[in-house]
Amino acid sequence: MTAASAVALMDVTVTFPAARRGLLPVIALQNLSLAVPPGEFVTVIGPSGCGKSTLFGLLAGLIVPVSGSVAVHGQSVIGRPGQVGYMPQRDLLLPWRTVLQNVTLGPELARRGVQAARAQARERLPVFGLEGFADVYPTALSGGMRQRAALLRTVLMERDVLLLDEPFGALDALTRTALQEWLLGVWAAERQTVLFITHDVDEAVFLADRVVVMTPRPGRIRAEFAVPLPRPRAHADLVADPTFNALKAAVLAALGTASPPGPLSLA
Ligand SMILES: Nc1ncnc2c1ncn2[C@@H]1O[C@H](COP(=O)(O)OP(=O)(O)OP(=O)(O)O)[C@@H](O)[C@H]1O
Ligand SMILES: [Mg+2]
Repeated sequence: MTAASAVALMDVTVTFPAARRGLLPVIALQNLSLAVPPGEFVTVIGPSGCGKSTLFGLLAGLIVPVSGSVAVHGQSVIGRPGQVGYMPQRDLLLPWRTVLQNVTLGPELARRGVQAARAQARERLPVFGLEGFADVYPTALSGGMRQRAALLRTVLMERDVLLLDEPFGALDALTRTALQEWLLGVWAAERQTVLFITHDVDEAVFLADRVVVMTPRPGRIRAEFAVPLPRPRAHADLVADPTFNALKAAVLAALGTASPPGPLSLA
């Protein structure tokens, strides 16, 4: 681990207590190490239950490992929540709060500058495709708008490490590809460090500087693929791009193959 990493996990193991007496504890992650330099966009892909959300829980300071270290910008976050912007897999918006009240929940809970946060949020609504929707309730939003609102809430936490857990997982394919291009546009302006969980190989390669493939539980890193595609990226340009398609095939193969002795790399 180096202090220069935005995110650094070293030899981390996480277990959860057995669900019932007589069962063994669940080893969710085992000896996992991952370092992400500032400004990198990393996508994380792996089978259901392999520990992807657990990885985010660690970085968010909400899960304590049995061994290993977890640091954000060189500082341990074990037992120290709130150092990253975190959009959980099943978060969603509070139905009794308006869009504006939802997206400023972070600053409100942290008791810092709610008025300033609301002003900032209003400024950003157009970029997030929510202009004119500040005072509506989430039930009046489309699926894509809800996800953009949840993303805005995460961005307004003002952390330069963003953890996005399957933010587009529940959306139809068209909305999803449009939001991927939009997200890259937003990211290009601010260049936060992003870790993005997905089940979709196309999405994983399209967004990333680097794709990290995890093994089935207990989760560890099986393979990593650098994505040397130029930015800005558009789906229309990449659909027939040989590098894009070769990378997708390689990620798919890494997901499907038996566990090799160590991490593979095309980097
Ligand atoms: N709080 C918990 N208590 C007990 N077991 C848990 C807890 N959280 C996760 N687990 C178990 O740890 C393993 C990893 O779960 P996790 O949610 O991290 O997987 P995931 O890769 O995010 O899966 P998915 O792709 O379905 O979201 C699973 O077997 C899960 O049942
Ligand atoms: Mg998950």
